[in-house]
Amino acid sequence: MTIEENNNYNPAHKGLETERFSDPSIIVIFGASGNLTRSKLMPALFKLYTNGYIPEGTKIVGLSRSFRDHYHFRDEMKKAIKQFGSEDQKSGLDWDEFSKLLHYIKADFSNEKSFEKLNDEITKLESTGETCGNRLFYLATPPGFFNIIIDSLGKHGLNHPKNEGCWTRIIVEKPFGNDLESAQKLDKKIGKVFKEKQIYRIDHYLGKETVQNLLVFRFGNSIFEPIWNRNYIDHVQITAAETLGIENRADYYDKAGALRDMVPNHLFQLLAMIAMEPPVTFEADIVRDEKVQVFHAIPPVTEEEADLFTARGQYSSGIIDGKKVKGYHEENKVSDDSNTETFAALKLYIQNWRWAGVPFYIRTGKRMPKFVTDITLYFKKTPHMIFRMMGKDVPDSNILSIQIQPDESITLSFSAKVPGAGMKIKPVIMDFDYFSAFGTKPSNAYERLIRDCLSGDQTLYSRRDAVEAAWAIIDNILKRWDSEKKKPISKYDAGSWGPKEADELIEKDGRKWKIL
Ligand code: BG6
Repeated sequence: MTIEENNNYNPAHKGLETERFSDPSIIVIFGASGNLTRSKLMPALFKLYTNGYIPEGTKIVGLSRSFRDHYHFRDEMKKAIKQFGSEDQKSGLDWDEFSKLLHYIKADFSNEKSFEKLNDEITKLESTGETCGNRLFYLATPPGFFNIIIDSLGKHGLNHPKNEGCWTRIIVEKPFGNDLESAQKLDKKIGKVFKEKQIYRIDHYLGKETVQNLLVFRFGNSIFEPIWNRNYIDHVQITAAETLGIENRADYYDKAGALRDMVPNHLFQLLAMIAMEPPVTFEADIVRDEKVQVFHAIPPVTEEEADLFTARGQYSSGIIDGKKVKGYHEENKVSDDSNTETFAALKLYIQNWRWAGVPFYIRTGKRMPKFVTDITLYFKKTPHMIFRMMGKDVPDSNILSIQIQPDESITLSFSAKVPGAGMKIKPVIMDFDYFSAFGTKPSNAYERLIRDCLSGDQTLYSRRDAVEAAWAIIDNILKRWDSEKKKPISKYDAGSWGPKEADELIEKDGRKWKIL
C-alpha cells in the first residue's frame, strides 16, 4: 500500500514511503571494466539482488573495451565480488543465479556502432516483455566520455522512455564538471538529451546511513532544533580524512586535486545537511530546495579571500599505521614538479538568519593519520562560568560530534562532577553508536542510491541548481590555485594532519582543529 492509499495519510509525510518498489528494468553500465563497477556497483547490485530488491526480469548490461564476452564479464565480476564484496557475499551462494542477469557488449564509446549494438541488445532483451521497457543508464566511465555517451544515447533515441508508462533514467557519476563553467556546460548538454526528472547525479556521501540520519536527528527530535543556530553554536568543523593516497588514480587526481575531488560534492553535501532549514515534507524537490538555499547563502569566496580563508598542501613520504608510505611525487604517473594539493581546508560563512557569523571550517586530505569523516558542532561557552577555577579539565563548551565513518556514531560531550568531596569537573559523553543500537552495520551507500534510482526517488541525488551553486562558491579559489600551479606548494608528512597553514587558518580565529 502506498502512503496515499492509507486512510491515515498525512500530506506532511509525502516522500517517506518506507518500501518503494522498483519495476524490472535493463541496467546499462558504461565503464563495465572500471574500478567503480568492480569495487562499488557490482557488489551493491549483487547485495540488492540477494536482499530481494532487484525485481525479477531485470537485466544488467555492461559496456567496455576490455572483456571478450558475457562469460568473461561474469568471471571478472565474480572476482570483483570476492575482492570487494562484504564477507557474506563471498561465499558465492547466489552468484550463479545473479550472474545470469549479466550481459556484455564490447564497445568503443566513440564509435556509433557500439550504440547500434547496444540498441540491438536492448531490443533483444526487451523482447521477452519482462522489463516493461524501463531502462537505466549508468555513466561509470571517466568524465571525458560523458559528452559522447550522452550525445549517442540521444542520437539513437535511447533517451526517451520506450512507451508511455515506462521510464528511462541516467545516473551520472562525479566529477560533475571540474569548475563552474564546465559543470554548466555538462548540465546544458545533458539537459538537451534528458529531462531533469530523468537525471540522477550521484554523490555517494548522500547514501551513507549517518548522513541520512542527520535529517532524522535534526528534524525527528524536538530538543536540538531550538539550539541549532548562531545563538548557541560557536562554530562547526567538518573533516574528511583518509589514510589512503591516490591509489593509481593520478590521471584524474593530479588534474583535480583535493578541493575539486571532495569539497563541492561530498563535503558540501554534509554542510547542507547540517545547515538546511527543516523541509516541509520529505519529497525530493522539497528537500533539495532547502539544500540549495544553503549554497545560495554562501557568498562565493573572492580571489583575494582565497588566501585568507583557505589552506592547502601536498603529502610527502611518512609513516601511517607503522608503515612507511611514499610521497605524492613518488606516486605512479605524478610528475616531480606537480603542485597539486592533496589537502585542502577552508572557512566559510552561511549568510542567513540562522547561521550569520558562525564559521564552518572544512578540511579534507589524503594520507592523514586516520580514516575518519566527522562533523562537530561546538556550542558557545556558558555566559557565566562559575566553575572556571575548578581545574584545567573543565571543558569550555558542549560538543556534538557526528561521525559518518568508519564507526557511525553521535556523541554529545558535557561537564559532570567527579564523585567525591570537592567540585572536580570532567568532560563526559553520551553516545549513540549505530552498531550497538541496531546490531547491524549500515548498508553500502551505492546499494541505497541505486535502489532509490530504480524506484524513481531523487531525494538523495544532486539537482542541477545545487551542483552549479556549489561550484560557484569555490570557483575563485580554483582559479587562484590554478594560476599558482607553478609555485611550490606547502608539504605535510604523510601521517600528519596537514600543512601548518591549516592550523594557522583556524588558530588565527582563536580555535583549534578537533583532535580525531
Ligand atoms: C571519491 C573521491 O569521490 O570519494 C576519492 O574521488 C575519495 O578520492 C572517495 O577517496 C572517498 O569516499 P569514502 O566513501 O571512502 O569516504
